[in-house]
Amino acid sequence: MKNLKGKNALLTGGSRGLGPVIAEALAGEGINIALAARSEEELNKVADNLSSHNIRTVAIPADITDEASLQHLIEKTIETLGTIDILVNNAGIEWVSRYVSLSPDHIRRIIKTNLMGPMVLTRLVLPHMLERKSGHIVTMSSLGGKKGSPYSATYAATKAGLIEWTSGLRQELKETGIGVSVICPGFVSNVGMFAVYDKRAPRIVGETTPEKVARAVIRAIKKDIQETIVSPGAIIVMKLLDAIHPAIMSTFLRYTGVYDFYRGQADDNEEELRGGDSG
Ligand SMILES: NC(=O)c1ccc[n+]([C@@H]2O[C@H](COP(=O)([O-])OP(=O)(O)OC[C@H]3O[C@@H](n4cnc5c(N)ncnc54)[C@H](OP(=O)(O)O)[C@@H]3O)[C@@H](O)[C@H]2O)c1
Repeated sequence: MKNLKGKNALLTGGSRGLGPVIAEALAGEGINIALAARSEEELNKVADNLSSHNIRTVAIPADITDEASLQHLIEKTIETLGTIDILVNNAGIEWVSRYVSLSPDHIRRIIKTNLMGPMVLTRLVLPHMLERKSGHIVTMSSLGGKKGSPYSATYAATKAGLIEWTSGLRQELKETGIGVSVICPGFVSNVGMFAVYDKRAPRIVGETTPEKVARAVIRAIKKDIQETIVSPGAIIVMKLLDAIHPAIMSTFLRYTGVYDFYRGQADDNEEELRGGDSG
């Protein structure tokens, strides 16, 4: 989709973290935006912050795990903006802890939010795009979807699922005028689910910025790119090691501090759980 000015985007996870930064980048291209998340007050603030751009914005509270809520989100977006040209599946949750300390309900919640949410929302938006023979779907995966991290296995499973789902859907929609892309950020600084830990990422992986992730979203739409990894680390080395044998890559990560990093975070989170906060 080359010319984005005047197009309409539906962006999930618009209330905080990467969402507002992606919204700013979309607005910078002259794209009208429907912002979705559960927190209405936060959404309204993000919409207000976009008021300097000459675009239309609407904040629509919605729960990505609830199909009726998603149906309402789509209806409200179309009622307000007219069409949905771009869908950015950005909402997601992570919980770092030992797998055995997650309740089955917690596991279901992560899968419903990260995997089922984007899949169902896309299924509901797709007929509108197919009718118009035009559209682009961008989904936020993670570097964790390329190589599962310890203490974050459920998150990794959902993010890996999104990468292969994108690959399949992209091939299926090839002749329809609809592009499908996935973005895999590594650790993102300043805002979002990693930044709240207030820790430094292991040096071998490094940290990227939210603005770089937002630029990758725009580039994926404009150039119809299937998959973009946004991370400064030695990604090519890591991909090569993984291609030779997954066990080599796992050993490499163990000796470069990635395992220790996640175990430390798991300890902190489990401490918090024992304090009564279920995350
Ligand atoms: N930050 C990173 O380092 C990083 C790295 C790789 C990938 N990612 C991916 O980037 C995306 C954005 O992450 P982030 O860092 O911005 O996370 P974040 O700061 O925790 O924000 C998550 C967003 O998702 C929304 N959300 C969560 N559960 C929802 C639900 N049930 N229904 C609707 N909205 C829901 C939240 O809004 P409400 O709570 O208001 O509903 C919020 O807007 C995620 O998919 C994440 O996996 C992030």
